[in-house]
Amino acid sequence: MKLQILIATLLISTLTGVLISKKQYFIGNQGESNIPDDSTLSNILDVQTKHFHLEIEIDFESKSIFGNQTLSMVAQKSGVKQINLDVSNLQIYKVVDQEGNILNFNYFNPIPNIFGEQLQIFLKNPTIEGRVYNYTITYKSENASASSWLTPKQTSSQVLPYLYTQCQSVYCRSLAPFQDTPFIKATYTANVTVVDPIVVYLSANVTQSTQVQKDNQNYTIYSFRSDIPIASYVFTIVAGNVVERKIGRRTSVISEPTNIDFYAQELSDLELYLDTVENYTIPYIWGSYKIVIQPPSFPMGGMENPLLTFASPSIIVGDKSGVSVAVHEIAHSWTGNQVTCKNWRNLWINEGFTMYLERQSDSIMFGKDYAVVDAIVGNDTMVDDMNNFGMQSNYTSLNPMIQGSNPDDAFSNIPYEKGYQFLKYIESVIGQDLLQQFLRSYISEYSLKSIDYEELQAFFNKFIKINRQRDAKKLLSQIDWDTWINQPGMPPVNLKFQTDTIPLIKSLAQSYIDLQGKGSPANYKEFLDFSLNEKCIFLQYLFDHTSEYDSQVLIKIDQDYNLTNSSNQEISWRWFRTTIMVGYNSVQDKIEQFLGLTGRIKMIKPVYQAFVQTGQKQIAQNYLVQYQDFYHPLAVQAINRVINGN
Ligand SMILES: *[C@@H]1O[C@H](CO)[C@@H](O)[C@H](O)[C@H]1NC(C)=O
Ligand SMILES: *[C@@H]1O[C@H](CO)[C@@H](O)[C@H](O)[C@H]1NC(C)=O
Ligand SMILES: *[C@@H]1O[C@H](CO)[C@@H](O)[C@H](O)[C@H]1NC(C)=O
Ligand SMILES: *[C@@H]1O[C@H](CO)[C@@H](O)[C@H](O)[C@H]1NC(C)=O
Ligand SMILES: *[C@@H]1O[C@H](CO)[C@@H](O)[C@H](O)[C@H]1NC(C)=O
Ligand SMILES: *[C@@H]1O[C@H](CO)[C@@H](O)[C@H](O)[C@H]1NC(C)=O
Ligand SMILES: *[C@@H]1O[C@H](CO)[C@@H](O)[C@H](O)[C@H]1NC(C)=O
Ligand SMILES: *[C@@H]1O[C@H](CO)[C@@H](O)[C@H](O)[C@H]1NC(C)=O
Ligand SMILES: *[C@@H]1O[C@H](CO)[C@@H](O)[C@H](O)[C@H]1NC(C)=O
Ligand SMILES: *[C@@H]1O[C@H](CO)[C@@H](O)[C@H](O)[C@H]1NC(C)=O
Ligand SMILES: *[C@@H]1O[C@H](CO)[C@@H](O)[C@H](O)[C@H]1NC(C)=O
Ligand SMILES: [Zn+2]
Repeated sequence: MKLQILIATLLISTLTGVLISKKQYFIGNQGESNIPDDSTLSNILDVQTKHFHLEIEIDFESKSIFGNQTLSMVAQKSGVKQINLDVSNLQIYKVVDQEGNILNFNYFNPIPNIFGEQLQIFLKNPTIEGRVYNYTITYKSENASASSWLTPKQTSSQVLPYLYTQCQSVYCRSLAPFQDTPFIKATYTANVTVVDPIVVYLSANVTQSTQVQKDNQNYTIYSFRSDIPIASYVFTIVAGNVVERKIGRRTSVISEPTNIDFYAQELSDLELYLDTVENYTIPYIWGSYKIVIQPPSFPMGGMENPLLTFASPSIIVGDKSGVSVAVHEIAHSWTGNQVTCKNWRNLWINEGFTMYLERQSDSIMFGKDYAVVDAIVGNDTMVDDMNNFGMQSNYTSLNPMIQGSNPDDAFSNIPYEKGYQFLKYIESVIGQDLLQQFLRSYISEYSLKSIDYEELQAFFNKFIKINRQRDAKKLLSQIDWDTWINQPGMPPVNLKFQTDTIPLIKSLAQSYIDLQGKGSPANYKEFLDFSLNEKCIFLQYLFDHTSEYDSQVLIKIDQDYNLTNSSNQEISWRWFRTTIMVGYNSVQDKIEQFLGLTGRIKMIKPVYQAFVQTGQKQIAQNYLVQYQDFYHPLAVQAINRVINGN
């Protein structure tokens, strides 16, 4: 933490501010009591970034990124004398305005250790409303929470180091000073210098690359440009031994050369996914679509950085059973990147809509049952998360109260699945065709903007009144936004997703439990024909009923289905959390191996959690120590929270 000496009066006035109201962090910024995002320390109602230019170098020796960030900001008011930016563990060397004045600055940290510091910049002259001001900040980013620096040994080709970043939700500020909030969207350009032969991509169009020599070494300056404004959380960098392989007219795959053939094969239908979602919505605005298959430590399933989706290699299974993650990230091009939630309380506006687009597209491509089974698995993950938070917790609502905490604490499957179920409910009221029309006009109306659910609701009501004049009132009265959005716990309407196979899957699992390990059900071979999601439902059933059987049942199932040896990580994490709960201890070696094979938080966290829940905290701690250099810092943080509380 780079907390510098504070002027005593500033400190006192701010402490009083904190006591009076949590929102009055912003000293010296009158009128900033209504910030629409609790997770930024920037005075976003005073000035707003419209464009930024990064002139930076990536140094793998010191694992740092340094250079200049130039923010072009439009004053929203006259008389603003101070600009506050989000930073986290950055070293700031110099701040210069467009006239070349060197500006004074200060760090301030109103909520220690949660999401960074406030960089306060004191202007030479007060702003004039509507004018554009450029500020260039010379800085260095080291040990950034967004960055994962891999040694050559940690990569699959083992020849060069590798860097990737993950900014959602509040980590972009650890890479450079930003107004780090989805409320702000800006176009950008960047020049990134790196030593040869490392290749760099950002979440933007590549415009050129220029060779330069310094100290007898060859470097390349990679230039990028995004003419479409993006929110900071989808800014990203990947650098390493990577190559690009074109898959279709607009689509390509990027990865280390070692695996590119395999990945390209698995993702060969990428163009079809893009066409399908585009066909369902409105024309794709971003140009091309590229997906980077990251090294195994990547903490997410996927991340929808524009023009540079990141995905975990755990989605590449060999039978295309994991690729719906790619459909999801593609769908974010419309819901998330084109229309964006205004703050992290409204995350469901990104994720619920994206789940809806994903599953609508899935049913077009893979059949209706595929989407329904996927929604059932999704509902299971939602219920698990609700049980973990407690059904009364505000984190189980679609409007979690995250003031004063890291928004990631509230992150879960709930905004995805409860948000999805809300849209499915709306579909049941107004019909699928009208909902599709609504989606199209909603995306057009709010294109390149950031919104909250109140604006969404107002637009929806207006849309229905115009398009269903006769029964608008009746339809709207059936949709209780307040309960769906603000009430904790299970959705107010149980939609009861069902397919013909679900009861068979559950009864197969129940038969194993009834047999208590003394035999296999006569129809046990049916499992082998289940889809991946159906197998997940089987495993969820076992997990939900662990109090009814002991390890003999799991030993029998393992003999029949060889789950301990599964190479599909969606199976592995569900299986291992159950084996831990039940005490099937002879698979411990395989669990240890598994925890070092992937750093995807969704998959490793429940396994660590199972150790903690069965009183084996020490084992969890030991594995974390063993693998913390392999995991991304965000994964280490998440696992630490599971083991040690907050
Ligand atoms: C950053 O900006 C400063 C001027 O404030 C300039 O001296 C320096 O060369 C710039 N650095 C880079 C890497 O462009
Ligand atoms: C501010 O930066 C923008 C590009 O971001 C540039 O077009 C403009 O000329 C700059 N303005 C000044 C006054 O330097
Ligand atoms: C980064 O981490 C290294 C090693 O832990 C430490 O020596 C250094 O001070 C850290 N730098 C910053 C800016 O936190
Ligand atoms: C980015 O780098 C290129 C190549 O060196 C250079 O031509 C261009 O002026 C740089 N852009 C900015 C904004 O500095
Ligand atoms: C740098 O590039 C030049 C021209 O491509 C080449 O001749 C030289 O060997 C390279 N130097 C190093 C250190 O790789
Ligand atoms: C990328 O370039 C394409 C083709 O020029 C353009 O259509 C698209 O809008 C650009 N995307 C961004 C984010 O600037
Ligand atoms: C696009 O949608 C239309 C109907 O809206 C359908 O007839 C057509 O097959 C779809 N094309 C693709 C590629 O999904
Ligand atoms: C919201 O829920 C979280 C998690 O259950 C809890 O820690 C927090 O205190 C709650 N906030 C409010 C304002 O109730
Ligand atoms: C979600 O799961 C819960 C608990 O198993 C169940 O009661 C509910 O019916 C499910 N919801 C849907 C929509 O299937
Ligand atoms: C897992 O595979 C190993 C061989 O790699 C085998 O010895 C073991 O029996 C298998 N486990 C099960 C439960 O089938
Ligand atoms: C279980 O899986 C392992 C490794 O994939 C394989 O070697 C073994 O033959 C399998 N055993 C059975 C019973 O399928
Ligand atoms: Zn998503």
